[in-house]
Amino acid sequence: MNIKAVVFDAYGTLYDIQSVASVTEQAFPGYGEIITQVWRIKQLEYTWLRSLMRRYQDFSDVTRESLAYTLRCLGLKYDEADFAGIMDKYRHLDLYPDALASLAAMRDKKLAILSNGSPDMLGALVKNSGLDRVLDATISIDANKVFKPSPDAYALIESTLHIPPHEVLFISSNPWDACGAKAFGLNVAWIERVTPEAMAQACLESETLPPLTMFEILRTQMDELGVAPDHRIHGLAELPALVSAQRS
Ligand code: 2OP
Repeated sequence: MNIKAVVFDAYGTLYDIQSVASVTEQAFPGYGEIITQVWRIKQLEYTWLRSLMRRYQDFSDVTRESLAYTLRCLGLKYDEADFAGIMDKYRHLDLYPDALASLAAMRDKKLAILSNGSPDMLGALVKNSGLDRVLDATISIDANKVFKPSPDAYALIESTLHIPPHEVLFISSNPWDACGAKAFGLNVAWIERVTPEAMAQACLESETLPPLTMFEILRTQMDELGVAPDHRIHGLAELPALVSAQRS
């Protein structure tokens, strides 16, 4: 297999979405963790619902609507400035610590992001984190107005980079995204950041599972969708070796 492009999911894969907890906790002390988890769960749910309903709104809208839902359900009062302050974190999410070095080690490949993010929020995030210096393209599904895991979203890789799916390695830590990309026909490496053993241990140790554990059970373990990624890695640092081993 000759891999010509390595394409990354953004939120949860290159960028740590849990890093919003710093601002949610600051805005609503004691509620940071529950806001963070419910917000992300609802945000993804709204992308799938909107795609099924054929009522596309971009990811900025979905992210705002899911945050509004979360704060309302928790009975939290806020003003526009509080809300905007939390939303702004999506333009400054923390990169996973191994992201920059891993990408820099694969500069001989085309490097890109394919994300649900809207062009404005993705563009700001990529620039603020310095990834604009190593990426060849930042592709937003907004061009086709349907969210991943629709095949029409993954098709944007070929139409943008002019590289066919069998020469692309797609990287995601989101199990549903890894399954969607594999079903579409891409080569896929799934990042398993939370192992089943760690998950089982967390469940054993806690009588009342914290929201983060609930989130990890729902959104970090491989799904039962009858599709399996080609590779399972545990962090971005493993990628350069995996990519060079694919040369035939
Ligand atoms: C993405 O970046 C939502 O994590 C998903 O497309």
